[in-house]
Amino acid sequence: DVQPVIMAGGSGTRLWPLSRSGYPKQFLVLSGNSSLFQQAASRLQRLAAGEITVAAPLVVGNEEHRFLVLDQLRELKAEPAALLLEPMGRNTAPALTLAALQACAGGADPVLVVTPADQTIGDEAAFGAALQRAVSLAAGGAIAILGVTPERPETGYGYIRVAGAAANGEAPRVARFVEKPDQATAEGYLADGGYFWNAGMFVLKASVWLAALESFRPDIAAATRAAFDARTTDARFVRPDAKRFATVPSESVDYAVMEKCPGSAFDIRMVELNAGWNDLGAWEAVWQVLPKDGQGNASVGDAIIKDSRNTLVHATSRLVSAVGLTDIVVVETADAVLVADRERSQEVKQIVAQLGAEQ
Ligand code: GDD
Ligand code: MG
Repeated sequence: DVQPVIMAGGSGTRLWPLSRSGYPKQFLVLSGNSSLFQQAASRLQRLAAGEITVAAPLVVGNEEHRFLVLDQLRELKAEPAALLLEPMGRNTAPALTLAALQACAGGADPVLVVTPADQTIGDEAAFGAALQRAVSLAAGGAIAILGVTPERPETGYGYIRVAGAAANGEAPRVARFVEKPDQATAEGYLADGGYFWNAGMFVLKASVWLAALESFRPDIAAATRAAFDARTTDARFVRPDAKRFATVPSESVDYAVMEKCPGSAFDIRMVELNAGWNDLGAWEAVWQVLPKDGQGNASVGDAIIKDSRNTLVHATSRLVSAVGLTDIVVVETADAVLVADRERSQEVKQIVAQLGAEQ
């Protein structure tokens, strides 16, 4: 049995003003006709093939969004195996640890397919094939990560360097993993040609995750375990103890473990993913995946765009019209409007930081 784990507790601040703390980006419909979280869940259900059976997902998210998660799964006629509710975000290393502890609680040790809830994938067949390979590597004890051929020196991703070409189609060993390098470093990696983007999906046995975390970040492992051991359970909702969880150091899977695996006793491998992968991190990426007119303009909702190029207009509650814009993003919501240089859409998170709790 493969156990999907969906990490759905992020805040998605770069997609403000559409993404809000009460309704963050993973629950929004940004492309196609279901939310990013729903796309992640249904993609995983379709993985079942041949000898691989796929269990109902473990979802790790914020307490505040528990009914959003349940409602959105119900729309897919799905139920979570359990919904692990964090009283506050402590990033993905503790989130995955809660899921791994839950998966092992009955004495089992399944292969976890860990996926974020903020991506789109164009080619599902290619995605399925890559994951099948990752699952069989993980069943043998490896940590399998998925690598995407980089297109630009993006600083918001992790970079993977593989250790030469592996023999006879085997998945190559990961020689280096660098999370979110600075611009100059990322440019160097692109020029080097031997680096891949980390797609943010991790495939490994629950026990392997727990052992790796224990060896690299015993502090996170111990604090998360203490919070999990003192959990309360109410139907599908599993709540780690809030006081103990508050003491867990905040760290991502990438910094806590993946960067430290190469060269260690853990066998970390990369499977190539060529499946039209996209992380919808900022408005730039949303513009990339939307259908466009002949001048590169994309629009959502009630919009009129004239004489403009490579512009995105996203309207939710009013008619928005644009004339003569180039490389601009306009996002309208009932109480806030964003107008930004499309290529600087990463900087939206600074506006959200300035707004603080008001967002
Ligand atoms: N439960 C829970 N709790 N989920 C969380 C938390 C948390 O505290 N923080 C983030 N998440 C969820 C997000 O909702 C998202 O689905 C996923 O975990 C990944 O978190 P992001 O915050 O979106 O990570 P990132 O995009 O900056 O970086 C990761 O993904 C990139 C590819 O998309 C890294 O793995 C990079 O190396 C990778 O390239
Ligand atoms: Mg992300």
